[in-house]
Amino acid sequence: MGLLGSVSSSSSLIAIILVLNVVALCNGGMTSTFVRKVEKTIDMPLDSDVFKVPAGYNAPQQVHITQGDHVGNAVIVSWVTVDEPGSSTVIYWSENSKEKKQAKGKVLTYEFYNYKSGYIHHTTIRKLKFNTKYYYVVGIGHTPRKFWFITPPEVGPDVPYTFGLIGDLGQTFDSNRTLAHYEQNPQKGKTVLFLGDLSYADHYPNQDNVRWDTWGRFIERSVAYQPWIWTAGNHEIILPPKLASNSTAPFWYSIKRASAYIIVLASYSAYGKYTLQYTWLEQELPKVNRTETPWLIVLLHSPWYNSYNYHYMEGETMRVMFEAWFVRYKVDVVFAGHVHAYERSERVSNVAYNIVNGICTPVKDQSAPVYITIGDGGNIEGLATNMTEPQPAYSAYREASFGHAIFDIKNRTHAYFSWHRNQDGYAVEADKLWFFNRYWNPVDESK
Ligand SMILES: *[C@@H]1O[C@H](CO)[C@@H](O)[C@H](O)[C@H]1NC(C)=O
Ligand SMILES: *[C@@H]1O[C@H](CO)[C@@H](O)[C@H](O)[C@H]1NC(C)=O
Ligand SMILES: *[C@@H]1O[C@H](CO)[C@@H](O)[C@H](O)[C@H]1NC(C)=O
Ligand SMILES: *[C@@H]1O[C@H](CO)[C@@H](O)[C@H](O)[C@H]1NC(C)=O
Ligand SMILES: *[C@@H]1O[C@H](CO)[C@@H](O)[C@H](O)[C@H]1NC(C)=O
Ligand SMILES: [Fe+2]
Repeated sequence: MGLLGSVSSSSSLIAIILVLNVVALCNGGMTSTFVRKVEKTIDMPLDSDVFKVPAGYNAPQQVHITQGDHVGNAVIVSWVTVDEPGSSTVIYWSENSKEKKQAKGKVLTYEFYNYKSGYIHHTTIRKLKFNTKYYYVVGIGHTPRKFWFITPPEVGPDVPYTFGLIGDLGQTFDSNRTLAHYEQNPQKGKTVLFLGDLSYADHYPNQDNVRWDTWGRFIERSVAYQPWIWTAGNHEIILPPKLASNSTAPFWYSIKRASAYIIVLASYSAYGKYTLQYTWLEQELPKVNRTETPWLIVLLHSPWYNSYNYHYMEGETMRVMFEAWFVRYKVDVVFAGHVHAYERSERVSNVAYNIVNGICTPVKDQSAPVYITIGDGGNIEGLATNMTEPQPAYSAYREASFGHAIFDIKNRTHAYFSWHRNQDGYAVEADKLWFFNRYWNPVDESK
């Protein structure tokens, strides 16, 4: 197995040209000279190993977990049964305890064109201990399946934690490679921050929801064991779970995890002045206590600083509404998806313009976030290869390859970011940067 195995098993589809990764200097930062041969990405066929239905009567499938409260003491477990509703109970126990507990949930179904869903279960497990391994079983009464997860450490300023970053994943052979690279990355991400656009089921006639089910089975191998934190993208018709942050809608919310405060915004819900999302964010940012959670991270789908000729300027209206707040509250980093490539910005802002002064050029700003686009999960729409030229000054590094990233928080002052392209070995860092926290250590990383 591994990269070489999976590449050779589909070598007719994926001809990869490896070019020496020399980096060219332009007006702006670097446009990588790594050139991945552009081939049509294609979805894995329905009978692929990764889509296999688990054996047994009414066996739970598409098992997935996400954070179920604001600080990490609760987990939402979701799964699908197909033969009958069965039980929505989760039995769980901590590694160090024989005492088995139960949580009851609810089951729902939906219909879409001629598609009828299975029985979708959502069960929240609460009052978990921090930093503890738990086993859990679903499928009680028919075909039980057992999984495990590890709760995050208690929220605190110097708690190290490793996040993975994946966007625009889809279910192609490239998607499978991205997930395998994330799983095999020696830096071992503990939670995925997912940047929107999940299954690309809407690529099919009537948005064939069977491709949601295959996607759920495909990612189970990761998301049944570690939470994925969801951002809604333009390809979503099924809503990500609402979390307990008093968000007024399921599409934007916040969580704390270890030393990070994570704000998830919705690029496709209204965000103009007086809208629910605007008012929520206005009240949310002042609540972030950097003594408790030094790292302020924002996730959204449509990037604000994007120098590819795809979705160009689509993030602009949201930037106009919120960028000044991000600078005022010293957001450390903004992760986006949507553009099927990788790009990292300098610390820049463009907040001086007031309709009469003509000051509308992004400038270096040490209070501003770094903007990173990781829409490169590998979906069926293929890579974004066409870039604006010359590379703008705000763009530090860009490359049209599939991959994933890791944001590895060490303590309140330092975090290590790396981006990993699928063509490389698991440990190779194609782009990397030490992040210095904007509140505790606001020095220039680029020096
Ligand atoms: C997907 O990747 C996994 C892990 O590398 C591998 O076992 C599996 O065979 C791959 N499946 C397909 C359809 O590429
Ligand atoms: C949500 O609102 C409730 C009731 O007003 C409050 O008790 C709780 O602390 C709030 N939670 C957060 C995370 O702000
Ligand atoms: C911020 O968090 C610290 C550490 O938990 C706490 O001591 C302090 O009271 C908090 N500040 C506010 C304004 O809540
Ligand atoms: C790249 O995008 C620009 C702007 O949309 C377009 O004019 C140009 O033809 C595109 N180039 C290629 C090679 O597709
Ligand atoms: C924080 O982490 C960085 C990077 O690992 C390290 O160099 C630094 O000494 C740490 N700071 C403290 C106070 O431990
Ligand atoms: Fe998108």
